[in-house]
Amino acid sequence: EKGGYATFMEKEIHDQPHAVADTLLGRTDAEGRLVLDEMSISEEQLNAVDRITIVACGTAAYAGMVAKYAIEHWTRIPVEVALAHEFRYCDPIVNERTLVVSISQSGETMDTLMAVKHARELGAITVSVCNTHGSTIPRESDAVLYTHAGPEIAVASTKAFLAQITACYVLGLYLAQLRGGSYADDAQSVMKELGGVPAKIETLLGQMGRVKEIAKFMADTRSVLFLGRHVGYPIAMEGALKLKELAYIHAEGFAAGELKHGPIALIEPGQPVFVVVPSPMSEHGLHGKVVSNIQEIRARGARTLVIAEEGDEAVVPFADEVIRVPATSPLLAPLLTVVPLQVFALWLSTAKGLDVDQPRNLAKSVTVE
Ligand code: M6R
Repeated sequence: EKGGYATFMEKEIHDQPHAVADTLLGRTDAEGRLVLDEMSISEEQLNAVDRITIVACGTAAYAGMVAKYAIEHWTRIPVEVALAHEFRYCDPIVNERTLVVSISQSGETMDTLMAVKHARELGAITVSVCNTHGSTIPRESDAVLYTHAGPEIAVASTKAFLAQITACYVLGLYLAQLRGGSYADDAQSVMKELGGVPAKIETLLGQMGRVKEIAKFMADTRSVLFLGRHVGYPIAMEGALKLKELAYIHAEGFAAGELKHGPIALIEPGQPVFVVVPSPMSEHGLHGKVVSNIQEIRARGARTLVIAEEGDEAVVPFADEVIRVPATSPLLAPLLTVVPLQVFALWLSTAKGLDVDQPRNLAKSVTVE
């Protein structure tokens, strides 16, 4: 049942091309227009939406943070991401024009369930992005958009994360299509490009040998930092979470722009820092800004482990290691850049002799508040 792999997590990392492909399957018609049969909310109601709040916990919340950048870009609807356990107690501003999107692999996370119930009481329209058929959160929501990642057994979430980003993108593009005009133009071209992502993940998975080696050498590491910007910022947070959960190593993810506002003081000789570099095609010169960050931390002795697009040569002079990912448009990059971070955490945990699938103190689904 582990498909020949030693752990469920390793298998699930390799399931990711399918998780993305299956989540896209059947969601477009012959002309490439999005059709969401399961979206049992009227177009009138959806067109009236003037604010989106995403509620989720842990990795699912990082998927929500990634989705915020994309949905706002495509629809110009303001999106807020709230940790489900905070949402309920912060007197949230929600009404019948608010679309509350919950994201949950299990569909049973109590914090997320309570947030959804609270949102409904306040009159919001609720959509659940969920991986488990028949679970509680979809039942308590107005509509559900299933992620088709297949059962995820390892406690650390991997393929569900990619499927969650994919499903949220589908939802965002569907809303853009409903809005019509120039918004709708994005929908078809992005869906087309998304269709090519599974093959890119497959290619990437085939070139993870060096990441595995790096992880093995780092079994004694006490702290690892992760930097990213724009959609790479939640990916940095996710990379840090994977390492905490699986290898019990102190890890922190930062927005790269925040470095000079404090965290750069943590850099001392030998400190490993992963940097998720934005695509050179990113707007506002973000790529160059992150390359400068790499230069700054390297000058202070950091060991820089750089995740950069194929062909991005600007990072090479400042990188101790360059981990390549296939080129994509900037908003789709998270579906690739997170993979080496998952693989790194898997092999570091293995190198420490830990239980990859069942890390200490954690449960697959957190059914208490
Ligand atoms: O089942 P859910 O997606 O609602 O679970 C949410 C979090 O508990 C979950 O993502 C957790 O953070 C994972 N262990 C991360 O690997």
